[in-house]
Amino acid sequence: MYSKDMIKFLSEAKLVERYIIKGGTPLKGEVSIGGAKNSVLKLMAAALLAKGESKIYNVPELTDVEIMLSVIEQLGTKTKYDRKEKSITIDATNITSVTATYELVSKMRASFIVLGALVSRCKEARVALPGGCAIGERRVDFHIKGLEALGAKIKIENGYVYAKTNKLVGSDVYLDIPSVGATENIMLASVLAEGSTRIQNAAQEPEIVDLANFLNTMGADISGAGTSELVINGVKQEQLHPIEYTTIPDRIEAGTYMTAIIATKGKGIIKNIYPAHLTFFTNKLLKMGANIKLLDPTSMEVSCKNRLNSINFVTQPYPGFPTDLQSMAMTLLSTANGVGIITESLYENRFMQVPELNRMGADIHQDRNHAIIKGVKKLSGTTLTASDLRAGASLVVAALMAEGTSVVEKLHHIDRGYENFEYKLRLLGGKIERCRDDSPAGSLTEGVHNESYI
Ligand code: EPU
Repeated sequence: MYSKDMIKFLSEAKLVERYIIKGGTPLKGEVSIGGAKNSVLKLMAAALLAKGESKIYNVPELTDVEIMLSVIEQLGTKTKYDRKEKSITIDATNITSVTATYELVSKMRASFIVLGALVSRCKEARVALPGGCAIGERRVDFHIKGLEALGAKIKIENGYVYAKTNKLVGSDVYLDIPSVGATENIMLASVLAEGSTRIQNAAQEPEIVDLANFLNTMGADISGAGTSELVINGVKQEQLHPIEYTTIPDRIEAGTYMTAIIATKGKGIIKNIYPAHLTFFTNKLLKMGANIKLLDPTSMEVSCKNRLNSINFVTQPYPGFPTDLQSMAMTLLSTANGVGIITESLYENRFMQVPELNRMGADIHQDRNHAIIKGVKKLSGTTLTASDLRAGASLVVAALMAEGTSVVEKLHHIDRGYENFEYKLRLLGGKIERCRDDSPAGSLTEGVHNESYI
């Protein structure tokens, strides 16, 4: 892993990095999927619960993972990242601080998850409020209400959540929305509480199951993960022990490569996945006319020859259509036959790719949380800006299927969640280069027409 100064340097440098993509080549070959970002970040927080050295495998090399390492190091843990082995070792023998600073939490809101782990282990936490982000307001009220129900006294002061308790006691918690983060924070807090906690209307995402499996391996007593009701029977600190654990595959990364292969009318194998985690998405792709074949329990073959048909869908908590793949599906719909309607039900502002796709020639009309997509024959390349992680990835896919050359800017968003994105796409035959150029966009755009970039 990089030093802190290096991370700062790299994240600043990434602001001026861009992809140059020449579209129109069908993607072919095999791609191997890494560990789930949205799981590993929570497993890293869960490692705080047991004294001693835990080791997590199948860790993707992402900026978000780097930030989480900084967050848990700030709390006093000793960490080691082994790039070759793709593992992280976390020694949580001593937690010397209960503060997660705004400087780090504001960089990645998922780090708010240390709140539950710290209250559990130290009976005290001071964690910066993450605030909203580009895709929506993203409140944390359910996290806080859940911890209060367990007996934590919570104060919000100077932009920080301050939680303190003498003892957490298990309780019934009902979530108005099956929030992933709230389910995880409450689960972490209840592991060492006295008695039983029941979380009703809990999130059912595979990442919740992964966290529960991790904690149970550590000695916790959690049942019902993957259903809407979780029961956590509190255990004693001495019952928890450090563990070795392998993170589940990243279903959103897998869905992104499936989309890229289908969008470019290619044929490829997606390896190291759990196909069942993608059931809803896969069914929608089949309905659109893509070919998807299960090859073995951990790989699928994906291909597409003809123009896709339009479909309608609503994003939903798991097992429904994943919001994190909504932008990818929109890219497919932009050139499908007919009209498709997408309703985004989780976030207020997750259609930021729309103006960019329209600049490529798409015909998409947005009305609040609905998008009406009239399929056009083709998209054409241009300069595009990634506004957030998933919108950014969907623009890369759009550029790969478009006619001509595109530039995708603000790669730091994409680097948060896609490990070696351009490398993996190039292995599939995609014409994509990362280029670092401090020259203004105008002069770079001239360079776009220079084939030597590809
Ligand atoms: N919500 C509240 N109050 C709360 C918590 C959530 O109103 O206390 C609302 C949010 O504002 C949002 C909805 O509930 O509108 C769902 O939020 P949720 O808590 O489920 O999401 P999250 O835990 O913040 C995780 C993923 C997201 C993914 C969502 C939904 C991580 C680090 N992030 O976020 O992933 O979109 O679940 O599946 O696990 C991404 O990877 O690009 C990403 C954004």
